[in-house]
Amino acid sequence: MKITSTKFIKGLVSDDEILADGVPQIAFVGRSNVGKSSLINTLTKSSASRTSSFPGRTQEINIFLVKNDLNDSFYFVDLPGYGFARSSGLGREKIGELIDSYLFNSIYTQKKVVMIIDATVGMTEKDILMFNELINHQKNFIIVANKIDKLTQSEYHKQMTELKKMAGDIYPIIPFSNKTKKGLEALIDEIFK
Ligand code: GTP
Ligand code: MG
Repeated sequence: MKITSTKFIKGLVSDDEILADGVPQIAFVGRSNVGKSSLINTLTKSSASRTSSFPGRTQEINIFLVKNDLNDSFYFVDLPGYGFARSSGLGREKIGELIDSYLFNSIYTQKKVVMIIDATVGMTEKDILMFNELINHQKNFIIVANKIDKLTQSEYHKQMTELKKMAGDIYPIIPFSNKTKKGLEALIDEIFK
């Protein structure tokens, strides 16, 4: 499976009719700065999504129209990160509400939710809350352990063992790096499965 085109459609700060138009949605969720927007760029081989070395870059729900080589359309939904205290833009509370209302308090369903964690940090308390909510709401989700380029072999094995212990065999865990592109094919396969 290949992604052949990507186009930014719009940024949402509240509910929007685009979410009800029937195009299957693939949502990217995770803490601030884990690399959600970078991941969308890697997947789409584009620079469609804005990234930054400072947490709190994405402040809206950004919708990208993505087409694959079978000419199927999808929305990639780039969510703002949770767990970062902002000094400007929408406050942490508002961002949290925006994420929750889209994922958990709406009629919308996602073909897949991609939960991204920072492999150099592991699952934080906030990640565990999100993980449990995704399970409670029976979301079809996978976990991406990002930034593995920053880990030594032994750190990598330790982290993957921890994650597997936690997520069991039920949820696929994909080790990934936006820097080296490791995991790219496995991730594309999982997303479009
Ligand atoms: P918010 O929009 O603030 O929630 O952040 P985000 O999750 O969209 O993160 P973003 O993609 O903006 O990336 C944050 C920082 O992490 C940037 O400096 C990226 O270059 C860096 N980064 C992302 N992925 C990787 C990776 O796989 N390896 C390394 N070394 N750095 C990465
Ligand atoms: Mg972002």
